[in-house]
Amino acid sequence: MKRFSFFGGKGGTGKTSCAAAYALSLSRRGVRTLVVSTDPAHSLSDAFDIPIGYEAVQLRENLHGLEIDAAVEAKKYMELIQQKTLDLVSAVIVDEIKRQIEIAYMSPGAEEAAIFDKFVELMESAGDVYDAIVFDTAPTGHTLRLLTLPEILGVWIEQLIEKRQKAMHLMKMAARYDSYLADRIKEDPILGTLTARKEKFALARDLLTDASLTGFFFVLNAEKLSILETARAVGLLVKHGISIGGIVINKVIPPEAGTFFEKRRTAQEEYLAEIDGLFPSYSRVRLPLLDSDIRGVEQLESMAVELEALEVESPLAGTVKSGSGEGP
Ligand SMILES: Nc1ncnc2c1ncn2[C@@H]1O[C@H](COP(=O)(O)OP(=O)(O)OP(=O)(O)O)[C@@H](O)[C@H]1O
Ligand SMILES: [Mg+2]
Repeated sequence: MKRFSFFGGKGGTGKTSCAAAYALSLSRRGVRTLVVSTDPAHSLSDAFDIPIGYEAVQLRENLHGLEIDAAVEAKKYMELIQQKTLDLVSAVIVDEIKRQIEIAYMSPGAEEAAIFDKFVELMESAGDVYDAIVFDTAPTGHTLRLLTLPEILGVWIEQLIEKRQKAMHLMKMAARYDSYLADRIKEDPILGTLTARKEKFALARDLLTDASLTGFFFVLNAEKLSILETARAVGLLVKHGISIGGIVINKVIPPEAGTFFEKRRTAQEEYLAEIDGLFPSYSRVRLPLLDSDIRGVEQLESMAVELEALEVESPLAGTVKSGSGEGP
C-alpha cells in the first residue's frame, strides 16, 4: 500500500469509481483512509451515493471523503495573501494592492494554485489522522499540470528569490548612509514568504517523487485514444520522477456479453494485447464492464476486491519496454 495513491486517466474511463473502490478496500483492511477528489467536476458523492463536501465527512469506518472546492479554496487563498501582503505595504497603496489581488483571484491560474495548496496541506497531514490518501483526479491534462506544478513553480520562485536577494543587497548598500532604511530592511518579510513557499513546493516534490510513498494508477479502457493518452501521460510522469503504481483496464466487455458485442470484443482483444505489450513492467488489473453504473458501497465492493491485485508488484517492475513512450 502507498501512502498516496492517485487515480487518473482519460475522461469517463472510471477514475472516480476506481478511486472510491480502492479507498473502500483500504478502509476495510483497517487503514485509516481519506478519499479526495481534485476534479472540479466532482462525482465522488455519486460513486458512494453519499453527499460529500469540501470538509471531510465520514463515509464508514476508517473512511472519510472530501471534494476540494476550487472556489472556496481560492477565496481562502486570496484572503491569506491579502492579509500577508497588506502587512508589508504602506497605507498609501493598500487599496491598489487589494484591487490587484482581487484581479489575480479572478484569473484562471488562481484556482489551480489554491487547489494545489490544499493538496499539499492534505499530503502534509497524512500519517497523522490518516494512514493513506486516495486521490480521484480530473482527466489527464489537468492532473498532469497539477502534479508537475511543484517543479515548474519551484524554478520560478527560485528566480524570484534571487531577484529579491539582489534588490536587498542594493538596499543594504544604500542603508549604510540611511539609518531609517537600515532599520526597515533588517528582516525581509518578502524573502521569508518566498522561502516558505519554496519549501512547500520542495516538500510536495519530495512526497510526489518518493516511490515508496506515492503511486499513480492509470485507469484506461481498451480503446485506441485511451491507450495513446495513457502512454503519453506515463512518459510525462516518469520524466517528472513520479512512480507509476499500476494500470487498471476498466470496462472490459466480458464473453457473456453475447453476439451483439462480438465485433467489439474482437477489437478489444487487440487493444488488450497492445496494453500488455506497452506496459509490461506495471501491475495490471482488468475489470469487467458491468450491466449498470456503479453507485453505492455495495456495488463498489467487488471492484474493491479486484483492485487489491494492484498492490502485487509485477515481476518485471523496474524494466521499461523501449518504444512504449515511458522514457523521457
Ligand atoms: N466497470 C464498469 N462497468 C459499468 N459502468 C462503469 C464501470 N466503471 C465505471 N462505470 C460507470 O461509468 C461512468 C464513468 O465512471 P467514472 O465517473 O468512475 O469515470 P471518471 O473517469 O471518473 O469520469 P470523469 O472523467 O467524468 O471524472 C459512471 O457512470 C460509472 O458508474
Ligand atoms: Mg471522475
